[in-house]
Amino acid sequence: MANLACVGAGNVGRAWAIAFARGGHAVRLYDRDDDAVQQALVLIGQNVDDLKSAGLVGEDDLLLDRIAIAPSLAAAVDGAVHVQESVKEDLSIKCTVFEEIDSLAPPDVVIASSSSAFLSSQFVGGTQHPSRCLVAHPFNPPYLIPLVELCGHPGTDPDLLERTQALMVSSGMSPIVLKKEIKAFLLNRLQSAVLSEAMFLVGEGYCSAEDLDRAMSDGLGLRWSFMGPFMTGHLNASGGFRDYVRLLGDAFQSTSKELCRDYDWSPALVDTVANAMEAKIPADRVSQGQRWRDRRLMAQRLHKRSQPGFTDER
Ligand SMILES: NC(=O)c1ccc[n+]([C@@H]2O[C@H](COP(=O)([O-])OP(=O)(O)OC[C@H]3O[C@@H](n4cnc5c(N)ncnc54)[C@H](O)[C@@H]3O)[C@@H](O)[C@H]2O)c1
Repeated sequence: MANLACVGAGNVGRAWAIAFARGGHAVRLYDRDDDAVQQALVLIGQNVDDLKSAGLVGEDDLLLDRIAIAPSLAAAVDGAVHVQESVKEDLSIKCTVFEEIDSLAPPDVVIASSSSAFLSSQFVGGTQHPSRCLVAHPFNPPYLIPLVELCGHPGTDPDLLERTQALMVSSGMSPIVLKKEIKAFLLNRLQSAVLSEAMFLVGEGYCSAEDLDRAMSDGLGLRWSFMGPFMTGHLNASGGFRDYVRLLGDAFQSTSKELCRDYDWSPALVDTVANAMEAKIPADRVSQGQRWRDRRLMAQRLHKRSQPGFTDER
C-alpha cells in the first residue's frame, strides 16, 4: 500500500481516487475549489455503492476510508510516492501546477499528468526535477476502463516510468508505455479519427447523429470492446490478417485518402449533435447519465471477466 495524491477532483481526478483506493492505496484528494471536492465525495460514494452492488468491490471493503480530502496542495503531496494531476486541460495551468507540485514533493516522487493531448515536454520546463514527470493518460472513468497510456518525455527517468507501470498494475489498470511522444497519444488519436469522420458524415447529411452513434453501439463497438482493429481484420478473412489486407486493403486505403481531416465543426453542426444527445439525456441530467454509463460499464467488466480468452474450439 502506498500514499498517493490526486490533484484536481473533477470527472477524472475523483475516478482516479476510486481506482487507486480500490488497489489498496491511501489517496489524498485535493482541488482548489471546495465545492468540487464536496461534489466529488458525493459522487465517489455513489460510485462505490454501485461497485459493491455489482460485485466488483466486496461489501466489507473499506475503500472509502482510504480516500481523504486534503486541505491544501502541500497536505496532499506530503508523504505521497506518486502525484496524479487531473486539472483542467489548459497548458498554462498544467505548467503552474507542475511547478507547484515539483517545489513541494521530494525529487523521487513521480508527478504524472492525466493530460489528454499535451505532452509532458510541453509543461515540465519550469520544474527543477523534470526527470520524474510524465503523462499517465486514462480513459474516463479510470476505475472502470483499465487502459492507461504512460508517456514520458525524452528526459523522463526510465526507472520511474517502470515504477509507475507497476503502480498502475497494482491499481487494476492496464498500462501501455508509449515508445515516444506524440500529440494526443494513442487513444485520443484513434478517438479523433472516429469523431472527425462522424462529424463529417452527419454534417454532410449522410445520416442522423442518432444513427451514427448506433453504428458504433450496435456495430463496430461490439467487437472493439474485446478485440482491436488488427484482430478484427485477422478474423474477418479465412486466411487471417494477410488475407484480409489482400481482400480489403486497397478498399480501406483508398477510402482513407477520402477521409476529411479538417472538417469544420460549425456551431450549427454542434447544435444538431447536441440537440440529438439532449433529446435522450438532457444537459442538466448528465450526472445521472454518467451513473447509467458507469453501471453499464460495470456489467461489461463482469461479463469480460467471466469470458475465456481464445481457446482452440472446434
Ligand atoms: N473528461 C475526460 O473524458 C478525460 C479523460 C481522460 C483525461 N482527461 C484529462 O484529465 C484532466 C482533467 O479533466 P476533467 O474532465 O476531470 O476536468 P474537470 O473540469 O471535470 O475537473 C478539473 C478540476 O481541476 C480543478 N482545478 C483546476 N485548477 C486547479 C489547480 N490549480 N489546483 C487544483 N485543482 C484545480 C477544478 O476545480 C476541477 O474540479 C484534463 O487534463 C483532461 O484532459 C479527461
